[in-house]
Amino acid sequence: MNIGIIGAGNVGATLASRISEKGLADVVLLDIMEGIAKGKAEDINDSLSIIKASKRVFGTSNYKDLADSSVIIITAGLPREPGMSREELLKTNLAIIKDVSKNLLDNCKEPVVITVTNPLDIMTYAVLKNTGYPKSKVFGMAGTLDCGRLVNILSRRLNVMPSKIKPAIIGPHNDDMIVLTRLTKVAGKPVSSLLKQNDLSEVIRLTKERGAYIVSLLGKGSAYFAPSQAIFLMIESIIKRKKNNFYISCYLNGQYGLSDVCIGAPAVIGENGIERIIELALDKEEKRRFFDCAAKIKETIETLGI
Ligand code: LAC
Repeated sequence: MNIGIIGAGNVGATLASRISEKGLADVVLLDIMEGIAKGKAEDINDSLSIIKASKRVFGTSNYKDLADSSVIIITAGLPREPGMSREELLKTNLAIIKDVSKNLLDNCKEPVVITVTNPLDIMTYAVLKNTGYPKSKVFGMAGTLDCGRLVNILSRRLNVMPSKIKPAIIGPHNDDMIVLTRLTKVAGKPVSSLLKQNDLSEVIRLTKERGAYIVSLLGKGSAYFAPSQAIFLMIESIIKRKKNNFYISCYLNGQYGLSDVCIGAPAVIGENGIERIIELALDKEEKRRFFDCAAKIKETIETLGI
């Protein structure tokens, strides 16, 4: 058993390092640029030797090497450039996702797949449609990342420990994401009751723009420490059968009154992938916004004919 990572860019390589360093599993790091995959894998292996770790990372460009991977993370695709929306990556990354899906079908034994490629909700749906894998075995990482960003912003603003903050963000992984201020709790109290409307709006804006803010600071590439942290916890919940809750992009099949769409919602993640999608008690306005977002995602899916 090992974890397969497709794409040896910043997210893929940082994730490979986290997984192996923490002793979770061996990793197969695949990239079409074989030298990059092998080079980063060997660098990580050297670092693992320094700490006398027992796990190893194997770099490859051959999908056959993913045959024994029980969990596969798709990070392949172009990252955003400064000023670019996640949606602008659509066509290029969709072609990449189709190619990756075909290779998974040809070489793998129905692993649990976590998509990271943007635009996330569309790409997760594309993996599902192009592989035909069970709906519970394919989901996207993002809400957990957005929640981490919200907690960071709130914790600094309110001067409280991150452990006292319980975030709630649903909807797509783009500027339409829905920060549920009524359900986001700080020491048990809704954040909507702790901050004035202006401050609340600013916190929401900063959370939504956080990814683009990091892209603009980096100048090249997008965030990777926080994304890889979120993915690591999901993989751990799968391998160790922890059944922890995560905000993910998941396929809705009647939940929230929606169907045939991938969108951000909380779910229980265990050994088989999504064990259960959690239906939050949304009020009328939150529900309306969630429906609008789902309609927008569906429209894109239909336009592209995925
Ligand atoms: C971000 C990318 C991972 O939000 O979508 O930084």
